Amino acid sequence: MQDPLKKFRIAVFVSGGGSNLQALIDASEKNELRSEICLVLSSDPSAFALERAKKHRIEAVCLSDEDEILDGLERHTIDLIVLAGYLKIIGAKLLTKYKNRMINIHPSLLPRFGGMGMYGMNVHRAVFAAGETVSGATVHFVDKVVDGGERILQREVDIRDCASPEEIQEKVIVLEHQLIVDAVKLLEER
Ligand code: GRF
Repeated sequence: MQDPLKKFRIAVFVSGGGSNLQALIDASEKNELRSEICLVLSSDPSAFALERAKKHRIEAVCLSDEDEILDGLERHTIDLIVLAGYLKIIGAKLLTKYKNRMINIHPSLLPRFGGMGMYGMNVHRAVFAAGETVSGATVHFVDKVVDGGERILQREVDIRDCASPEEIQEKVIVLEHQLIVDAVKLLEER
């Protein structure tokens, strides 16, 4: 019988600390995921995420040119891209080539608190300023509308006891680490 579970060759795109990347690496090493993290691509040469990748012997590159990125993905026969804290806008060629094969994690309950300028602490500041009682995280497919592609998985967290945007961020990031792994698992089963 044919194996019903998919096994992706994943590239994770990052720009910063890479704690979501770490969650994926850990899940893959513990065989919670069938897929393999084959490439880490950063938009920033000083991103700590690059160190995390190297520590686990995953090829880590810093690229910004779209054609060079496409070449790198082809060389590693990547079939799923995970944007995890990637701060650059994805180019049209990449969007077309990886349509329905590129996902992003966003630290809010999309469609709320998404779109241009809504990244990192900006999201949590806006959630705090709005006096929200719940926040959360969303994994969605990437299309040309920033934070607008089809949603794959979303989870909430109670933030009534959070006294600052930083405290919201601390709660949401914990949720994200499980959500990103669960989203890849879900795609493996689709
Ligand atoms: C996360 O909150 C993610 O949702 C957002 O950027 C942050 C990246 O954190 N897109 P890290 O680099 O994975 O620690």
